[in-house]
Amino acid sequence: MKFLDKVLVTGGCGFIGSHLVNYLANKGKKVVVLDNFAGGKANLKYIEKDAKIIRGSIESRNACRKALKGVDTVFHIAAHAAEGQSVFVPIFNAKTNLIGSITLLTEAINSRIEDFVFTSTIAVYGRPKKLPVNEEHPLQPEDPYGITKKAFEDYLRVYYELGRIKPYIVRFFNVFGPRQRLDDPYRGVVPIFINRIMQNKPPIIFGDGLQKRAFTYITDIIEPLYKIVGKKKLINNPINIGNTEVWSVKRLAETIIKKMGANLKPEFVPRRKSDVKVIYADITKAKKLLNYKPRVTINEGLDYTIEWALREGPKKFKYMDYFEIEKLAHSAYKKKQL
Ligand SMILES: NC(=O)c1ccc[n+]([C@@H]2O[C@H](COP(=O)([O-])OP(=O)(O)OC[C@H]3O[C@@H](n4cnc5c(N)ncnc54)[C@H](O)[C@@H]3O)[C@@H](O)[C@H]2O)c1
Repeated sequence: MKFLDKVLVTGGCGFIGSHLVNYLANKGKKVVVLDNFAGGKANLKYIEKDAKIIRGSIESRNACRKALKGVDTVFHIAAHAAEGQSVFVPIFNAKTNLIGSITLLTEAINSRIEDFVFTSTIAVYGRPKKLPVNEEHPLQPEDPYGITKKAFEDYLRVYYELGRIKPYIVRFFNVFGPRQRLDDPYRGVVPIFINRIMQNKPPIIFGDGLQKRAFTYITDIIEPLYKIVGKKKLINNPINIGNTEVWSVKRLAETIIKKMGANLKPEFVPRRKSDVKVIYADITKAKKLLNYKPRVTINEGLDYTIEWALREGPKKFKYMDYFEIEKLAHSAYKKKQL
């Protein structure tokens, strides 16, 4: 069976998806994108020349069938990827991330497609029992986003065991860089801070700011998505991909303020209850099996991202006027404080 000749990228208009589309097109691949533009159309300009773009939802069997025509490899990137928000929109989260993913998988199997790359997340691990977390760490997600990502990993395993699919599961953590939405108040701490500072407003930190993450620059996650396809040892064998440099959110805010030459100090609001305090991952397996090595430091990545954001200019945050469990929405969201 051939692979990586004609590929489908779901969510190809998003942050990670649009970079992947460009990368695949540069390699001479025929690329189809399925995206419902839930994340906006800002990145369309970067991918228009590189892909056939189909507007539609992964929740629609028809849209999936149409997008999968003639395709031999799927990169399933589309998601509602807001951990903190998923707590108060669990139904919406499950429809997109679980029902949508199962719909796509069903139609991929019906179309006899085998190679299926899925962008999972470090959120599947939940509160770490030891650090850094490797792929053997128990999976106990702390929010609905992580639950649906874990559940879909299980679906992939089951259909793999039934001999129907070759899943490649990549667990990313805290990716940032150009093209990440500046107007989304629910996710992406780097663009949120930069967007606030461009408006001369202080970055808002949930909790004491001592939560730590291994922030990863976008170019460090694209190549492994491509290289993984066809690697026998990585079929149905999840792998962590990301940076090993760990920063606190407070350091991140202070550094961005300094880099942007602003005279501001971070503002602190109560923590979000489902947030994990410190988490970062062990990438030994990726080093061994994919020869993986992150190349861009957080400092360099921030410089590139700020440069891009300044060209884009400040954006008004777009709030979802929709809560399924209003009591669990942080007051900063209800007050549209960001
Ligand atoms: N950015 C990160 O730090 C990070 C970390 C771990 C995992 N991931 C995963 O990587 C993937 C991409 O994340 P991103 O940061 O690029 O997000 P993004 O929001 O920029 O992109 C997601 C894209 O999916 C599309 N989409 C949403 N619902 C859809 C639907 N029902 N049908 C079709 N398209 C739909 C959106 O319009 C958007 O273009 C996601 O699966 C996310 O869970 C991201």
